[in-house]
Amino acid sequence: MTSLQNFNVLLGITGGIAAYKTPDLVRKLKAQGANVRVVVTESAKSFVSPLALQAVSGNTVSDNILDPAAEAAMGHIELARWADILLVAPATANFIAKLANGLADDLLSTLCLATNAPIYIAPAMNQQMWFASATVENMQILETRGIGIFGPDQGEQACGEVGPGRMMEPEQLVSELGKVITHPILKGKRITITAGPTREHIDPVRYITNHSSGKMGYALARAAKLMGAEVTLVSGPVNITAPNVDKLHKVVTAEDMLNTVMKDIKDCDIFIGCAAVADYRPTESVDHKIKKSNIELTLTFVRNPDILASVAALKDGPFTVGFAAETQNVSEYAKDKLQRKKLDMIAANDVSQRDIGFNSDDNRLHVFWKSGDIQLDKADKLTLATQLLQLISEHFNDAQN
Ligand code: PMT
Repeated sequence: MTSLQNFNVLLGITGGIAAYKTPDLVRKLKAQGANVRVVVTESAKSFVSPLALQAVSGNTVSDNILDPAAEAAMGHIELARWADILLVAPATANFIAKLANGLADDLLSTLCLATNAPIYIAPAMNQQMWFASATVENMQILETRGIGIFGPDQGEQACGEVGPGRMMEPEQLVSELGKVITHPILKGKRITITAGPTREHIDPVRYITNHSSGKMGYALARAAKLMGAEVTLVSGPVNITAPNVDKLHKVVTAEDMLNTVMKDIKDCDIFIGCAAVADYRPTESVDHKIKKSNIELTLTFVRNPDILASVAALKDGPFTVGFAAETQNVSEYAKDKLQRKKLDMIAANDVSQRDIGFNSDDNRLHVFWKSGDIQLDKADKLTLATQLLQLISEHFNDAQN
């Protein structure tokens, strides 16, 4: 488990019986070195005393968005920015429904919309409420939005029923947080990441593209945010929900992607080209649907600009990391790309395998830099993204010294 030393944890407490455990949760978070600020909903105050939470956290507890004195001390936007992570524990069925629907009718729900920090929830409710189709659908919405979920645990409930719906115990919650939190080693660093495929138009109804789902690039963006970076994500057309980033640019073609990347690149410290950019586009994109005929159709293609090589060629440009998607001679081709495109680092993946690479949840990377390499074993894309960013951070820091 990672220590939570100096992590700013904003703890939101909603009105469930498990709220009585939260002073203990605050104590355990503080024992790990976290800075903790607490926000309670009106109904949470029936289960836990704000005074007790203030005593254990060492900070005033916030509960009202309309309180001028509290807003003057630390306004809700400031509080949202302060957080490295927002943990809602316990999260009631009502709060989960509010979150899924984007309501902002109290301080905590407003903070959930106003923060850029990753949000985690620890659901707690009666087991029948947990299984209710409305809750099941709300949870699916939260999951697709990238909100992390801890628990719930199974067992005897306050109402006497037995089943899933107990809030995860404070000790385990802190341990789970330690697993997802990585040190904010990228705090203050601006990272631009490209993700997904590009689409190159043949005519208004047809295009060429590839199998990239955006999962690897989105995992990198999410992991970079968790590590404290300011993240710009430039994404081709994908069907997954974008993580919470500072700037999200949706593009379609390689040329759009190049123009968008180049706009902000001067302010960027690290560039990661994870997008599967089409190497070619049709020489002509006609503005009417090409009609079929009995003769063969021949399309000609021109080379697209190489975004990664263009960034790497910039004078005083960012630390530049590429990906290499190969089906054979993976190491050899990756090393060639590292050298030819003048990159600082390249992460090669074998896209001939079904269980890794394109459109899968897992990947395996072989990372190369000028004087070395390392294999990152098969894992889910978020874990690999975290490992890759740790490596990038080390090499970036070395390059600065
Ligand atoms: O999106 P997923 O389904 O999760 O799949 C992830 C992935 C397999 C797409 C990803 O891990 C990956 O390998 N991305 C790079 C894909 C690629 O285009 O590889 P390449 O070897 O053809 O290109 C090498 C590098 O040059 C890449 O960093 C690419 O972004 C960049 N490039 C390529 C062509 C071009 N015109 N401009 C570029 O910037």
